[in-house]
Amino acid sequence: MKLTILGGAGMRTALLVNGLVRHSEELHFDEIALFDADEERLKVMGRLSQYIAELNQASFRVTFTTDVREALQGADFVFSAVRVGQEESRVNDERVALKYGVLGQETTGPGGFAMALRTIPVMLEYTRIINEVAPNAWLLNFSNPSGLLAQAMNTYGHCKVIGICDAHAGIKNALSKFLGVHFSRLQVDYYGLNHLGWVPRVYKDGVDQMPMLLDRFEELAKDAHIFSFFDPELIRNIGMLPNEYLYYFYYHDLAVRNILEAKETRGEQIVKLNRPLLERITPLVREGKLAEAWKDYNETLDKRSSTYMSKETSGQLHNVHEHEAPAHSQFEEEGYEGLAINVMKGIHLNKQQILTLNVPNRGTIAGLHDDDVVEVPCVVNANGPSPLTVGKISDLAMSLIQPVKTYERLTVEAAVKGDYQAALNALTVHPMVPSFTVAKSILDEYIQVHKAYLPQFQ
Ligand code: G6P
Ligand code: MN
Repeated sequence: MKLTILGGAGMRTALLVNGLVRHSEELHFDEIALFDADEERLKVMGRLSQYIAELNQASFRVTFTTDVREALQGADFVFSAVRVGQEESRVNDERVALKYGVLGQETTGPGGFAMALRTIPVMLEYTRIINEVAPNAWLLNFSNPSGLLAQAMNTYGHCKVIGICDAHAGIKNALSKFLGVHFSRLQVDYYGLNHLGWVPRVYKDGVDQMPMLLDRFEELAKDAHIFSFFDPELIRNIGMLPNEYLYYFYYHDLAVRNILEAKETRGEQIVKLNRPLLERITPLVREGKLAEAWKDYNETLDKRSSTYMSKETSGQLHNVHEHEAPAHSQFEEEGYEGLAINVMKGIHLNKQQILTLNVPNRGTIAGLHDDDVVEVPCVVNANGPSPLTVGKISDLAMSLIQPVKTYERLTVEAAVKGDYQAALNALTVHPMVPSFTVAKSILDEYIQVHKAYLPQFQ
């Protein structure tokens, strides 16, 4: 089996390869092909990934190339982790929005919008090539904004696509820790869009725990960092547990204030970690000091995960290790690669799984269109993912899902057609953007600052 990673020079690649190692035999991997346009960085990530594969005597070999067709040729699965405009563009996405008092964040709000405008045309081109050189391949998209990109590729793409996010697995692991039971005994219901989801029910051995979890929310929030910045009153009013990204909707003003006071955005934090890391490990890799490079790399990526969402929530969220997959832990489903591995087991080995994924709605959530991409539990087997029926959802949730889905659809049209009016409408209807005037200012600045990456708007 061949797996191709698009955006293979991204900083997380070697970690991803490391996560794949122990499943490589079961999944019959023989090649992992990394593609990236950035040749220098690709060499570093490629060599480091080869080192990890060799060190662990993996069943696969790692290859890397700047030729996307060659990388995709004959692939069974494709992961996408592309970052058009690199980390520097992430900072521009954030700063432009913040200037107008609106959240600047990689996925939620205008930041995700700008990233989507840059990324959608590139991803659609890749789906065209996949259709030519690997027509049976499934594309598992990790690139953010994950749900919005899945929407674009399901509407205009040319291959089979699944949108991936580890948030649901993070919630499930936090609950399994709090309840003191193995995750396999829990059923954590979930619905919404990517980074805009709610948990309406949690079954332990078939019995709903939600009333108890709401009652004891203070304790839960102490135990599980991802819930720690939500007021118990809010959670009890909603009657559901939140995806951590709902913080940005329910506490928009506070999040903006925290980021401005921290004087550093998440993107800036990551540039500060990644740039020096790359400068340190590039010569090490070149000189063959791979163990040393791997150690530095791991420590730096640990720092990244332990500071996740901490500035935005003013230090309330630290050490979200729910997001990382400690080797051989009981938490099999953790991390992006954990989820992707389970998807591949479902599809490639026909080992049926129930996984929360971004797929077209097809009647799952009442009141949404069949082709609206939603994030819901799916049965995954050799036929791919089929969403489980959710039915009617809470009006409180729908009141955010509807406008955000409208925003997403308009963003897709804008990105594909270079349609300024659609782009402006998209930002205007977004719940975080206070007015048409602000929407227009933000949009015009994005088109200016991202000129090189937005040819469709020039
Ligand atoms: C979570 C989110 C992802 C995000 C990741 C890392 O897992 O679900 O969408 O990419 O955190 O965030 P970072 O801020 O470190 O890039
Ligand atoms: Mn995510």
